[in-house]
Amino acid sequence: MSTNVKTLDTQELESRVKEMYREVAEHPEREFHFETGRKLAERLGYQPSELDDIPAEAIDSFAGVGYYVDLADARTGETALDLGSGSGMDSFVAARKVGAGGRVIGIDMTDAQLEKATTLAARAGFRQVEFRKAYIEALPVEDASVDLVISNGVINLSADKAAVFNEAARVLRPGGRLAIADIVTTLQLPEGVTCDASLWAACIGGAMQRDDYRQTIENAGFTVDSVRENEQYRFVSERADNATQKYGVKSISLLALKTT
Ligand SMILES: C[S@@+](CC[C@H](N)C(=O)[O-])C[C@H]1O[C@@H](n2cnc3c(N)ncnc32)[C@H](O)[C@@H]1O
Repeated sequence: MSTNVKTLDTQELESRVKEMYREVAEHPEREFHFETGRKLAERLGYQPSELDDIPAEAIDSFAGVGYYVDLADARTGETALDLGSGSGMDSFVAARKVGAGGRVIGIDMTDAQLEKATTLAARAGFRQVEFRKAYIEALPVEDASVDLVISNGVINLSADKAAVFNEAARVLRPGGRLAIADIVTTLQLPEGVTCDASLWAACIGGAMQRDDYRQTIENAGFTVDSVRENEQYRFVSERADNATQKYGVKSISLLALKTT
């Protein structure tokens, strides 16, 4: 059921992921295995009106994989938690939806992403947003204190997805929503791919088989409400594209409700 991590060096993986996303924060104009920035965001489905009044530098470093903002349906006054908030684009989009009386907490493990997001929030006056350094597998957030958990392109990077969904369920109030975009596969990936830290950091190697992914969410105490495929998402390097074709690597957006 869990992603095959038998011979994956999780410490190496963490340092590769941090290195890659430090680069995305500091040099978003460079080429990665994946696309970044406003063009990508708009192609995935973000409305220009959702992007126009948030910091452009956060959008430049956007490295998400799908649009889920409609599924999240963040409402005025709510508290949202963004798992793997990166340079902050999704946290800022959520902040506009929950308004000045709401709250958004972004969680990330990469210093450069946190520094950039925090600076941008202060500069643009997003007082309802804060970024915390932590792992998404161990959230520094109180039980049942959040209305909505969001995440874009991050959970595939975790070697312990059950812990991530258990933590999301713990911090959500009963009836709370989990709205995410992520990468899954049609076929279970072989060890040659799951143990390749650079394919993992590029959001492919850690992708879980889609039925197992759904089951892991349900096991954490959620009911899956809807799932849709994001045909607009594509990987850019040849190596990444080959794995994508062979194993049916796909981006999905998903809404689940906390039931227990
Ligand atoms: C693909 S980027 C997505 C960032 C952001 N959601 C966006 O759409 O631009 C992945 C982010 O997740 C963070 N991340 C990956 N694994 C993590 C973990 N286990 N705990 C905390 N942050 C993590 C990385 O540091 C990086 O900023």
